[in-house]
Amino acid sequence: MLRVALIAPPGGGKGTQAAMMKEHFGLVHIATGDIFRAIVRGEYKGNMDVEMIKGYMARGELIPDQVVIDLVVERISQPDCAKGYLMDGFPRTVEQAKAFDAIDPSKRLTHVLYLRVPREVILDRLLGRWTCPTCQAVYHEKTHPPKVAGICDVDGTALIQREDDKEETILKRLDIYEKQTMPLISYYRDAKILTEIDGNATIYDVFSQIKEVLSA
Ligand code: AP5
Repeated sequence: MLRVALIAPPGGGKGTQAAMMKEHFGLVHIATGDIFRAIVRGEYKGNMDVEMIKGYMARGELIPDQVVIDLVVERISQPDCAKGYLMDGFPRTVEQAKAFDAIDPSKRLTHVLYLRVPREVILDRLLGRWTCPTCQAVYHEKTHPPKVAGICDVDGTALIQREDDKEETILKRLDIYEKQTMPLISYYRDAKILTEIDGNATIYDVFSQIKEVLSA
């Protein structure tokens, strides 16, 4: 059974690859960023401090570990996750990883895929990103454009740019990634479940590498 996490910098291609992996491997896709954006839009049931979450996201900062851990633990306890899942954006800190490892061993991660993407390509990727607010499909105006400019291929919704995709916020998210998320690479390398993927290739070449690892 596959229980996979994707680690990559902001704009590293987690959401793009997750959509393809979900389709190919039939995994449940759990994207913490999408869940928090749904909470901010008032579309998620449960007791959440919406203003607090909105503030962290707008500043490009990580939401406190315990809030994230409670949300993810609750999500993977739902029946659809019994056959495996794909984490996109979790864990983001060693504290989150340790808390996740402390839960039921039958729910622990089997694979962690680290998409290596150099800092210098990230700005281009995020400043050109367009997202569907309805189905969360992700496009790029140059490398992965929709068939009709500004319109989602899947459901015809008008595409939007994310609030946190401003240059200043992107640079801050990158700094936070390097300080708080990069230590996870050695954490999972030590646990012998980490595979490095060259994330600075075409979307389809990255996906081929992922398929090779997960099909082995
Ligand atoms: P989140 O939504 O997870 O944002 P992120 O990690 O910054 O990652 P992105 O969604 O920006 O990028 P991506 O890697 O998915 O890249 P994409 O596929 O879109 O988190 C947002 C916020 O939520 C956080 O800042 C934090 O506040 C909070 N949060 C979430 N999880 C949390 C946690 N666990 N703990 C605490 N806080 C949390 O690709 C980007 C663009 O590049 C697209 O346009 C795409 O078309 C293009 N592209 C993708 N791959 C390629 C390629 N190979 N070649 C060329 N272009 C490509």
